[in-house]
Amino acid sequence: MKNLVILSGAGMSAESGISTFRDAGGLWDKYPVEQVATPEGYQRNPELVIRFYNERRKQLLEVKPNLGHEVLAELEKYFNVIVITQNVDNLHERAGSSHVVHLHGELTKVCSSYDPNNGDYVKELKAEEYEVKIGDLAGDGSQLRPFIVWFGEAVPEIETAMRYVESADIFVIIGTSMNVYPAAGLLNYVPRSSEVYLIDPKEVLVNSSRSIHVIQKGASEGMTELLSRLCK
Ligand code: APR
Repeated sequence: MKNLVILSGAGMSAESGISTFRDAGGLWDKYPVEQVATPEGYQRNPELVIRFYNERRKQLLEVKPNLGHEVLAELEKYFNVIVITQNVDNLHERAGSSHVVHLHGELTKVCSSYDPNNGDYVKELKAEEYEVKIGDLAGDGSQLRPFIVWFGEAVPEIETAMRYVESADIFVIIGTSMNVYPAAGLLNYVPRSSEVYLIDPKEVLVNSSRSIHVIQKGASEGMTELLSRLCK
């Protein structure tokens, strides 16, 4: 089977009712990114940051995967599918995708404030634990913090992601404005001989001279079209 590697962003989950970041009315319009998505913001006001992610986590219980996530999971019948996502929701997994790399962390997990990437203190929350409080501690005695990669922090999964991208026969970019690095730079690791598709309802400026098949549609319609193009 061929390797199909997909890079997804916030637009993948938009039709499930989760806001994107940079579209008008997106999350970064409502919440200043430096307050809720940087280590400095967390140091200044941990309570605000913990509340922000508690709300995002609570929203997970109210949303479900859309047709785009479902079609992607179905593609596993025809391809070795690797999902590399910038999303912190769990909708790819809930739709049935079996191999998901989360570049920017996961809402359903918490970790140590001292050392976010120490796996010994990363913990998966059950739904009834989704509301983290000040005073809830990690195994090393530090405040439990969201297992989220904030701006200015290292992206530990990028190396794993690069290796997968280098093995891609087909690379699909979906629902990302390609503004945030190192994720956006993954396109540079796609072999020259591979096919690249981009699904997004808007025009996305991609920093590459290679030829890209653009499907200018939302995630559900776009993934359905991709399936029919790849499996005709
Ligand atoms: N289907 C597919 N794509 C859509 C849809 C839809 N229904 N609606 C909007 N989009 C597209 C937008 O046109 C845009 O290109 O999704 C993209 C969303 O872009 P961003 O809001 O910038 O989100 P993303 O690229 O995932 O952001 C990357 O930045 O803020 C950080 O860590 C955060 O992971 C995030 C990263």
